[in-house]
Amino acid sequence: MRQVVVLLLAACVLSQVFAAPAEEKRIRRNMIRGRPRGGMKKTPPMSEVSHKINFDTVVSGTFTQTLDHFDSSVGKTFKQRYWHNNQWYKDGGPAFLMLGGEGPESSYWVSYPGLEMTNLAAKQGAWVFDIEHRFYGETKPTSDMSVSNLKYLSSAQAIEDAAAFIKAMTAQYPQLANARWVTFGGSYSGALAAWTRAKHPELVYAAVGSSGPVQAEVDFKEYLEVVQNSISRNSTDCATSVTAGFNLVASLLKTTDGRKQLKTAFHLCQDIQLDDKSLKYFWETVYSPYMEVVQYSGDAAGSFATQLTISHAICRYHNNKATTTIQKMKQVNDYFNLVNEYFGCNDIDYNGFISFMKDTSFGEAQSDRAWVWQTCTEFGYYQSTASATAGPWFGGVANLPAQYYIDECTAIYGAAYNSQEVQTSVDYTNQYYGGRDKLNTARILLPNGDIDPWHALGKLTSANSDIVPVVINGTAHCADMYGASSLDSVYLTNARQKISDVLDGWLKAK
Ligand SMILES: *[C@@H]1O[C@H](CO)[C@@H](O)[C@H](O)[C@H]1NC(C)=O
Ligand SMILES: *[C@@H]1O[C@H](CO)[C@@H](O)[C@H](O)[C@H]1NC(C)=O
Repeated sequence: MRQVVVLLLAACVLSQVFAAPAEEKRIRRNMIRGRPRGGMKKTPPMSEVSHKINFDTVVSGTFTQTLDHFDSSVGKTFKQRYWHNNQWYKDGGPAFLMLGGEGPESSYWVSYPGLEMTNLAAKQGAWVFDIEHRFYGETKPTSDMSVSNLKYLSSAQAIEDAAAFIKAMTAQYPQLANARWVTFGGSYSGALAAWTRAKHPELVYAAVGSSGPVQAEVDFKEYLEVVQNSISRNSTDCATSVTAGFNLVASLLKTTDGRKQLKTAFHLCQDIQLDDKSLKYFWETVYSPYMEVVQYSGDAAGSFATQLTISHAICRYHNNKATTTIQKMKQVNDYFNLVNEYFGCNDIDYNGFISFMKDTSFGEAQSDRAWVWQTCTEFGYYQSTASATAGPWFGGVANLPAQYYIDECTAIYGAAYNSQEVQTSVDYTNQYYGGRDKLNTARILLPNGDIDPWHALGKLTSANSDIVPVVINGTAHCADMYGASSLDSVYLTNARQKISDVLDGWLKAK
């Protein structure tokens, strides 16, 4: 047996030595509409945590879900994945439901001890559940992702999925007959947690919606304003260097020699093309690591805890007096790819991206095609450079207008998805859920970190004492959801305590 393995290994090594040099692997930028590969609420690699999990009590299954909750004549169903764990459950305790968002779910949130939700479950004697969002992960409600099937992908349907699931679990486990259900979520699913409580107060008693962008907005120009501010808050010298970098890129783009320098520095697979879409696509690629590092800086989730932080992944290079501006930009980019184990060239082929996104199979583009669909038909959330302060800081207000993202809706899903349609859909979403200012419900906790670019669409103040925003100083996206770590700031520690105390008060009330 061992000999066979050795022979196979030798064969592999030899074939690599003698094979013609392969074309370098193309790496597409990690962030698409603020969503990194894998989804917006990060989970650390399971190998890091699995030894702490009591798998004996974790159950996984599929649930027969209704395809269209708003039109019974459709009459179709699909299998929705879920997990649950009763290891902390005590008689008469509540049920906690983590809502999946724009990525695959796993047993992680219901099984790993020491997360915010599982800590609260241990304290409250709660049974914990998690459902995967339709069209993400293995929850594939239709045969493909053609536009006629994507019509079943919406937050409104996902909320009804959660409601049907709660009813079914309550029926299946008689112990839960009188249990109070609390919805949890992070990022998009943080907003879903709040909206599920608002739409189904008869089923959902309270919600904890972390970093939820509860306000939809077509031109989300505040996103890059927060990126600018968050870098500046860490180091003003660093911010001065980063904006010098983006402005240098803008000037290098104007000459043939400059574009050659950029191709080398950013290790691009292709020459930079001068048509409008290609240039804007290039800018998205340049901004992507800066956006993602700021969004998750310091989160106790894998490499973001200490490596991909603002100070380590951005300012460590930008504050180095011994390097040129273009070298600093190169180093930020290289370090980001290194930590993510992306080895290859950076792909800036706009048309290739559009073809990728047009793939209607549940293939490699699945989550991106689904998430971008939701932005085109519900939320916008387009991270533009239109801000009068952040635009020039990022090298030009015209670099990435919201219209560029809307044009991608049209290119990917068809002519019906144009600017008027996107605006109408976003207005409808804010009306349907009430937006930031008219969330008409009670008992929702809304944690938001104030260096997280998404907090700009969160609900940060409330006139109603039963809607409790928890704004966390110096903290990034969904940070409260992870386990306590020795690196946590006092602000984050206090925020988790406040969330726990408020929820405790609600659950104790008769
Ligand atoms: C910048 O970030 C680092 C690491 O996260 C931190 O140690 C440092 O205190 C921050 N500086 C400021 C001024 O916030
Ligand atoms: C936020 O944190 C920073 C860094 O620790 C501190 O200087 C500042 O006073 C804090 N702001 C508030 C409102 O607590």
